[in-house]
Amino acid sequence: MPQEQSDLNENIGFSLERLPNELQEQFRSLYIVEDSNEQHYLVENNIYQGDARAKLQSIRANSISLSFWSPPYFVGKKYEEYLDFEKWKLLLSKVISLHFRILKPGGFLVINIADILVFKDEKMPRIQADLIHRKRVKITRDDVLKVMAENPNLKRHEIAKILGCSEQTVDRRLHGNNIRGGKNNAQTRIQLTGGLIEKWCNEADFYMYDRRTWVKDPAWENSKWHSSSYRSVDEFEYLYFLWKPGVLRFDRSRLSKREWREWGSRGVWHIPSVRVNDDHEAKFPEELPKRIIRLLTDPGETVLDCFMGSGTTAVAAIKEKRKFIGVELNAKYVELSKKKINNVQVEFPYE
Ligand SMILES: C[S@@+](CC[C@H](N)C(=O)[O-])C[C@H]1O[C@@H](n2cnc3c(N)ncnc32)[C@H](O)[C@@H]1O
Repeated sequence: MPQEQSDLNENIGFSLERLPNELQEQFRSLYIVEDSNEQHYLVENNIYQGDARAKLQSIRANSISLSFWSPPYFVGKKYEEYLDFEKWKLLLSKVISLHFRILKPGGFLVINIADILVFKDEKMPRIQADLIHRKRVKITRDDVLKVMAENPNLKRHEIAKILGCSEQTVDRRLHGNNIRGGKNNAQTRIQLTGGLIEKWCNEADFYMYDRRTWVKDPAWENSKWHSSSYRSVDEFEYLYFLWKPGVLRFDRSRLSKREWREWGSRGVWHIPSVRVNDDHEAKFPEELPKRIIRLLTDPGETVLDCFMGSGTTAVAAIKEKRKFIGVELNAKYVELSKKKINNVQVEFPYE
C-alpha cells in the first residue's frame, strides 16, 4: 500500500478501501492537500501581529482543529474605524473562506457575533417616530379629525377651543409638521448577520452545523433606541458552527453527564458579560471559548483565534491543555494578550 494511503488510513481511523470509489475520492480531496511552499508557518502557542487575511495564509493546511473568534461587529468601535460596511463584509467573507484550507477535515469554525447590525442609512425614508409621550399637548391627529367630523362647519380656532389646545397644535396635527427629526437625520437601519454568515459559509464550502444563543447582560448603554422605538435592548448574540466535511470525532466523554445536561446539549447559554472592559473594548467572557473548546476538541489539539483581542481564547485554550495560535491587528492588544497568557498559572504540557 502506498505511504500516502496508509497515512490517510491512520489519520481517519479506518481503511479507506472499504468505501465505494466515489467516497474514497471525496476523502482524498479533503485530506490530501498540496500545501504552499511557505517557509515561515505560524507556530503554535504564539500570538502574531497582523491582518487575519494575510496571516491565515501562513498556517499549515489541515492543521487547526477549531477556530473560534469574535470579529469586529461594525458597531463603531475604535479598532474598526478603518472599515466601512462594504470593507467589513469583504473582511469577514475573506477570513471565512481562508479557513477552509487550514481547518482539519471534520473540524469547526465557530463565530461569535451579534444577531443584528445597526447603522445609519442615508437612503432610508426620513420619516421618524412621532413621540407621543414627549408632546406637551397629548392631542393626536385622530382627536382633531374626530372633532372636525362631528363639527364640519367649525373654524380652526373653534376646534382648538373644543380640544383645549392652541390653533397651532391643531395645524401641526393636521399637517404632520410635528414629526420629529425626519428632515435632518438619516434613519437607523437593521441588518441581520445570520443571513450574511450563512451565505459566506456556503460560498467557502463549509456546512452550517449548528447555531447557539449566548444570553448576556442587557446592554442598556449601547441600545439608546429602546426608549424611542419598539426595538428591544441588545442582550444576546449568536454562535455559528461551520463544519468542514471530514470524519467528525464524536466523544461523549469530553464532558460530564451534568455538563451535557446543563450546556453541552443546550441551545441557549446564559453567561454574564465581562463587566469591566478596561483594557479592551469588547472582550467576551472566558466561559465562552472554554465551552466551545471543551465541546469540540481534545487536549493537545490546536485552537485558532484570528481576532485575538485581549487573548481570552488563548487563555481558555491553555487552561484546557490545548495549543493555540492567535492573530491580532492592533499591536497594543498583541502586547495585552501576551501579558495575559504569561499570567496563566498552568504548566503547558505540549511544548
Ligand atoms: C471583538 S474584538 C475580539 C475580542 C476578543 N474576543 C477578546 O475577548 O478580547 C475584535 C478584535 O479584532 C481585531 N481586528 C480588527 N481587524 C482585524 C484584522 N483585519 N485582523 C486581525 N484582527 C483584527 C481588533 O483589534 C479587535 O481586538
